[in-house]
Amino acid sequence: MSRRKVFLVGDGRVGSTFANDLLQNVRIDELVICDVVKKITEGDALDLEDLAPFVGQSTVKSGDYSDAKDADIAVITAGAARKPGMTRLDLVKTNVKILESIIKPIVESGFNGIFVVSANPVDILTTLTQKLSGFPKNKVIGTGTSLDTARLRVALSHKTGVNVDHIDAYVLGEHGDTSFENFDEAIIDHKPLRSYKELDEETLVELETDVRKKGGKIIANKGATFYGVAMCLTQICKAILENKALVMPLSAPMTGEYGIHDLYLGSPAVVTANGISDVIELHLSEDEKKKMAYSAAKMKEVVDGIDL
Ligand code: LAC
Repeated sequence: MSRRKVFLVGDGRVGSTFANDLLQNVRIDELVICDVVKKITEGDALDLEDLAPFVGQSTVKSGDYSDAKDADIAVITAGAARKPGMTRLDLVKTNVKILESIIKPIVESGFNGIFVVSANPVDILTTLTQKLSGFPKNKVIGTGTSLDTARLRVALSHKTGVNVDHIDAYVLGEHGDTSFENFDEAIIDHKPLRSYKELDEETLVELETDVRKKGGKIIANKGATFYGVAMCLTQICKAILENKALVMPLSAPMTGEYGIHDLYLGSPAVVTANGISDVIELHLSEDEKKKMAYSAAKMKEVVDGIDL
């Protein structure tokens, strides 16, 4: 088997939590962590290498962009994080600048793997990562609505008492304020969500709002969110490194799905060793189609306003 190497940019709370999750959940040979604050990456590398006797041999080191050269995956978590009261879109200007300064040297290193992006606003930054790198669309992936979907499944499990493993429901569109739930197609414990009496219209509206606002609520309470998104990143990396063909809601490249082009947006997609092998276009109700189109229009507006 070839060596498995992951290159991580950004050693903040999302990055360091992801590094910890990755080492504990996926067999890799090498993890290189890169950040402008070298003292932190050096400290984290030393701290994380102590996991080896418990999780298996792997090298963890602090490095720079040239280390991306032979990596299978480059994970981008770097960027300003949301502060209480901010939307993800408020971060655009700052994080596009940071993204440009990251993608260029990674590409120049000779990196030929798969980009996985979680920095916000994730749909915009994933779209721009593909544009800046010139990589094939299947080789750029964003965490998208994987986190929102996890939050939805948790909320539905709380409401119905059904184990999360038996809940099949997605959040689609932007990882942000125009995201929406596919309640019409959702299945809970082999039955349509709409057949659950306790999930009446009012409850569903409340639930959708709570899921959308959960990130903001966590930030208001503890300053940041990181456990959920770090695990989403870990699952994406696992699917790539183990060639799992895992279906996940992701920031996926739209090439006509849902009538959308030239944009990454939240939809289920299949992840293999080659990146996104398929975008799964769900059959949406008329109302949901409108919500998807609205989410895409909002994202397009922002992307078109950015000069690269
Ligand atoms: C959240 C951040 C990661 O929703 O966008 O938790």
